This record gives sequence, C-alpha cells and structure tokens, in this order.
Amino acid sequence: MTQFKAVLGVGGGIAAYKAAELARALIERGFSVQTVMTEAAQEFVRPLTFAALTGNKVITSMFGARSADEVLSSSVEHISVARDNQILVVAPATADLLARFAHGLANDFLTTLYLAFTGPVLAAPSMNTAMWEHPATQDNLALLRSRGVHVMPPDSGPLACGTTGAGRLPDPERIAAYALRLLLQRHDLDGETVLITAGPTREPLDPVRFISNRSSGKMGYALAEAASLRGARVLLVSGPVNLPPPDNVELISVQTAAEMHQAVMAHLEEATIVIKAAAVADYHLARVPPQKVKKTAMRLSLELDPTPDILAEIGRRKRDQLLIGFAAETENLVPEAKRKMETKNCDMVVANFVSQDGTGFESDENEVVMVMRTGETVSPPRGQKREIAAQILDQALKLRLALHSKS
Ligand code: CTP
Repeated sequence: MTQFKAVLGVGGGIAAYKAAELARALIERGFSVQTVMTEAAQEFVRPLTFAALTGNKVITSMFGARSADEVLSSSVEHISVARDNQILVVAPATADLLARFAHGLANDFLTTLYLAFTGPVLAAPSMNTAMWEHPATQDNLALLRSRGVHVMPPDSGPLACGTTGAGRLPDPERIAAYALRLLLQRHDLDGETVLITAGPTREPLDPVRFISNRSSGKMGYALAEAASLRGARVLLVSGPVNLPPPDNVELISVQTAAEMHQAVMAHLEEATIVIKAAAVADYHLARVPPQKVKKTAMRLSLELDPTPDILAEIGRRKRDQLLIGFAAETENLVPEAKRKMETKNCDMVVANFVSQDGTGFESDENEVVMVMRTGETVSPPRGQKREIAAQILDQALKLRLALHSKS
C-alpha cells in the first residue's frame, strides 16, 4: 500500500551505497520512491540498483533523452517530479550538494528539482569530519535550516577515509522514519522560534565537585523534538544530560545557572515561545576555590548565594512571547503552580509531582497539570513524555489564541 511519494536524491559520497538501503526502508514505510542521482553518485552506485529496488526509472541527468520530443519533455521533468512528490530526501547530502542548494545553483537535475520543490526537504549529510566541521559547510547548513530544510546531523564513528569523527550517514531506518514523521506531522508551529531550556544545571564547589539535581532533560528534549517536527525553529539551551540532541534543533550547551541565564537572555528577542523546562539550581557557591578542597576532620559548611531566577527575569522583560514555566513540586501542586505563574509572570505553568514513582525526574513518563493564565487547568492522563510534550504545545497554541482574542 503506497501512502506517500518521495524523491530520493542521492549525492556522490561513499555513503551512496547506504541510500539503497534507505530506498528499501522508505518503501517499507509505504513510500513510492523516485530516485534522482547526481553524476558523482553514479560513480559509487549504479542506477540499476535503485531502479530494481524502487521499480521506477532512475533520473540520472537533466538532458538524458535523445530525440527532440524527449528532450522537451525531460527538460520540464523537474517540474513534474517536484509537483508529483510530497517530500525530497537527500542522502548522502555531500558538502558540494549542500553548497549548491544553499546558493541556489541549478546545474543538474537534483539542484534544479530542489529549487522547484515546495514540499519538505530532509537532508542527511555525510562526509569527512573536517569537511563537515568546515565553516563553509556549517554556514551553508545554517542557511538551509533557516529556510526550513530539515537536517539530520551525521553520526560519529569510523569513516571510510580512515579517520574517526562526525560524518557518518545516520541509520537509513532513522532517516526513513524521520521522513514519515515529517509528512504525518502538523505544521502549526511554522514560523515560530521556540526557546526551550532543559536538564539540570551544575554548580561547581571546586574543580572536581558540584551541586546538581536529578533532572534528566527528557521532558525538555521531548518538547524540542515535538516543536521542531511541527515546523518551529528550536533553540535548545541544555544543561549536562545524557541524551542525543533531537534532529534539527540548535543546541546550546551550558553547565551553570549563570551560563543558562546568559544563553537564554542572548536569544530571548528571537523567541516567540519560551519554555523553561530546566531544573535550574537555586543556589551556587559564589567564589569557587581554584584548587580541590582537602578533607579535614572538621565540619564543613557551605555558604551559598541564590542564582538568577531566569524565568522571573523573562517574565519581567517579555513583550509578546508566550512564556511557559515548569513547577516541580512534592506537595500543593496547583496552588504552587498558580503562585509561580503570578510571581514569574508566566502564561502557563506545567506542574508535576516529583516524588511519585515512575513519573517526573529521570523517568520516560510524566503526569502533569497545566495551569493557564486564563484560569483554566488541564490535566491530561499520565503518558510518555513525547505525548505530554505534544499536549503542552497544543495547549500553548490554544492559550495564545485565547489571550490574543481577549486583547
Ligand atoms: N527557574 C529559573 N531560574 C531559577 C530557578 C527556577 O528559571 N534560578 C525556573 C525553572 O526553569 C522552572 C520554574 O522556574 O520553569 C520553577 O522552578 P522550580 O524549581 O519549581 O521553582 P523555584 O522558583 O525554584 O521555587 P521553589 O524552590 O520555591 O519551588
């Protein structure tokens, strides 16, 4: 059963052979696949491989046809291929292809198709680490992302060129799953910039010790993934966590509350929605000793100073951003959430008990109550953090409509 139509654009990198597996993974997910290969790609894999796997003729050049009639029909083929397909998946997206996409070149079928294509584009880059890290490649990627191209960052590991580092094509199954999610997703966050904080902060006590908390970052990362899949540009300011960043989000890694404060304030103006899911340490040691503190037989007390309350400061500075805070509580859930909403000038506070087994910190599930500025409270059933993330975004959009229609 064919649900969706994809163009698979194959670039000329050693990972081109994995694009054959990707074609199969897409077909298994119900896609019909039209393959377009660059000239360089054909040096690595024969078009016949893709023709046999997909059951479709492979497009290998702009003017491949011979007779005048055929040339005429093939010269507008990029338009019909663009019109007839719902997604363009480019794998491997080489440094050269990314550069040509970013600069609007149309010097072969794939780059011409890219310009003519109005649906979602998913690029899975793969190349040598130095090429990936080169500012030219990174600038091209930033430009493509800002134009809405979905980019799956490459995996790290041993590369065909003999080095080890970032540059491996992600697992074809993951690329196919991402392509499917892009088509199933809604686009209700198109044009939004969502600034999300996640994870704990770490406040050093000396060069080897710190104070932190049990936050895993899972809720914030689930929100970042969900917002990105719904079309938002996502800035994820994250404390130290053991999670891979979701595809297609801009990750800003921080350690301390002060660093998180600085990163958030630097990007506040760009944001249309701010979600403060991080468990920020409330206290820190103002003067961290430069050397490791030695053990003695004496009692040791620490004198701690408060950290900046980032959420409260955003609440004071915000203009028309929608501001969503979190409240991790062990008692008086809703009254505490309401108090934090007032004192920190939030539009919504997502409150959860952190003492319950199986929800809250570290767990994959959560049970929350959303308290809105409008006075409404919404309590979705306990669920996976991914599902809760979707509900928080749904409620945020509803709330914004309600607040706008009042003003
Ligand atoms: N928060 C913040 N900066 C801080 C402390 C908290 O931005 N220095 C934010 C958190 O990201 C969260 C919200 O404030 O969105 C509530 O955090 P929580 O720890 O529940 O509340 P506190 O303000 O620390 O209040 P209390 O310790 O009284 O529960």
